[in-house]
Amino acid sequence: MADTTRLNISKLGTKTYWDDFYALERANFNQNPDDTGECWFDDNDAERRMVDFLLDNVGEQLIDMKSSMIDLGTGNGHLLFELCENGFSGPMLGVDYSSESVAFAHSVSKVRQFDAFARFEAADIFQADWCPGKFDIVLDKGTLDAIALSGLQFENHKTVFDCYSEVIEKILNKNGVFLITSCNFSEDELVRLIQTKNLVKWKSIKYPSFEFGGVKGTAICSVAFFKR
Ligand SMILES: C[S@@+](CC[C@H](N)C(=O)[O-])C[C@H]1O[C@@H](n2cnc3c(N)ncnc32)[C@H](O)[C@@H]1O
Repeated sequence: MADTTRLNISKLGTKTYWDDFYALERANFNQNPDDTGECWFDDNDAERRMVDFLLDNVGEQLIDMKSSMIDLGTGNGHLLFELCENGFSGPMLGVDYSSESVAFAHSVSKVRQFDAFARFEAADIFQADWCPGKFDIVLDKGTLDAIALSGLQFENHKTVFDCYSEVIEKILNKNGVFLITSCNFSEDELVRLIQTKNLVKWKSIKYPSFEFGGVKGTAICSVAFFKR
């Protein structure tokens, strides 16, 4: 069977692309504080659905209104702000390898007064020394999609996905939840690429489906895993 998980390398997989992107978004925000930038997968209401998923599952696994959370590849930090708006009040950390993203998210956080809850730090999640501790909830909206376009090579024949699962396992508390939204991988692919002995598929979020050429699908998918 053809391997549908291999993506072509693209500029969306480079740090320079994201630095330029967030420098522009930050400049726009400085001119107009109502402009908090692009919300990835907004057309599919992904952010709303991720927040609703966590709200609906409070009391299960480690999901609690005071859960600690980390957003990998946080971009403009909007997902964390939306969680704050919806009553989540645990410590939140947004990390991104683009220092422009971090500066931008930090500015929005200050202006919107979320800085008591949400912190932002520059970090490349594949660097050995970046690990900021363990969290109850790990979030990814579009970050693995960008990473998969980078053509990154790892030692010992490890794939991006092997290394990504290792990162998640390392920073997730036992019974903690990893919630990922992707536009490049189907639910089945995400499970195949991310699931390990200790990181197990738990639930998924339903999106409206479309049919084309007799094949049914959705434009994006969100899958939750928990750590055994
Ligand atoms: C498609 S954007 C999504 C941004 C944000 N999650 C959102 O939903 O708006 C992908 C993000 O991943 C970040 N990123 C890519 N590779 C990364 C890495 N190795 N470590 C940390 N962040 C990374 C990029 O800088 C970019 O902000």
